[in-house]
Amino acid sequence: MDLFEKLNKLKEEGTEKIKQADTQKKLDEIRVNLVGRKGQLTEILHSMKEVEASQRPKVGQKVNQLRDYFQETFDKAKEKMTQAVIARRLEEEKIDVTLPGRKGHVGSMHPINIILDDLESFFIGMGYKVVQGPEIETDHYCFEMMNLPKDHPARDMQATFYIDEENLLRTQTSGDQARVLEKHDFSKGPLKMVGPGKVYRRDDDDATHSHQFQQMEGLVIDKNVTMSDLKGTLEMITKHMFGQDRKTRLRPSYFPFTEPSVEMDVSCFNCDGKGCPICKFTGWIEVLGAGMVHPNVLRNAGVDPEVYGGFAFGVGLDRFAILKYGINDIRDFYTNDVRFLAQFRKEED
Ligand code: DAH
Repeated sequence: MDLFEKLNKLKEEGTEKIKQADTQKKLDEIRVNLVGRKGQLTEILHSMKEVEASQRPKVGQKVNQLRDYFQETFDKAKEKMTQAVIARRLEEEKIDVTLPGRKGHVGSMHPINIILDDLESFFIGMGYKVVQGPEIETDHYCFEMMNLPKDHPARDMQATFYIDEENLLRTQTSGDQARVLEKHDFSKGPLKMVGPGKVYRRDDDDATHSHQFQQMEGLVIDKNVTMSDLKGTLEMITKHMFGQDRKTRLRPSYFPFTEPSVEMDVSCFNCDGKGCPICKFTGWIEVLGAGMVHPNVLRNAGVDPEVYGGFAFGVGLDRFAILKYGINDIRDFYTNDVRFLAQFRKEED
């Protein structure tokens, strides 16, 4: 077979092989075999010496043409393969925009946080600022500054988790009052604050007791603040929380940091005051403690009780949530059962 025939045959076979190749890898192998350094075309080139001298340029030209032809054919085959891969990917990854979307899971706020948020907005609307004191509090702020010196018997009312002699898990948010009072600059206006947060007591947990719960402290100090300001404010809170047609009443009570001290009851929203198991047949439900700030609390914080005075109140947020939502076990707030928690939604949700 002469060289021209060989070249024609190689062209035919090579073209066929390239056509058959179905992967890049096979295509590369064929390329090496045909036009590579040790490939068939090179081999033919090496046998040029057998060709008559006059024929050599022709053969050489033919070999070069064939190399170009193969190169072009390879490029085309490769391009076709790439296009095919892209087309397959596009087909596989096609998004069906007509499919209905998956519904995202929307969590709900914890019932106590719903109450907290609501009360915060309520107080901010009345010009109060919101402060937050430390949960690990000092004996100094939690008790002493609040008119409960070291051996005061009223300390027994709040069984305390002491960390050491001076530090404790706060039993009440009342320490926030002292912290804010100490710093307040009365030349810039009256003090109106609420301080929400967690508090801790050495209590055995049951349906109505929890070793951890939440309070919101309130404090208003200015010149000429009276008991009727306190009563009006408390009435606004309770009506906002439990309904405008609730009746309220104040009962005398005792707290070391207020004098006089009161507790506020709201007429039972279940029986409207007729008497039922919820109000223990009294017609009234106790909702918070309050009073006129004791002069010692002001004095301890460097405020002159002859000039300034005001009122304070303490709200149990768990208690508000229990009453508002009719919950009968306080432990439900803290045991993270989503079936319980998912029942509560903020009104605007
Ligand atoms: N700190 C009190 C408690 O934990 C609640 C309280 C009562 C706070 C009366 C007050 C207040 O600010 O005036 O039982």
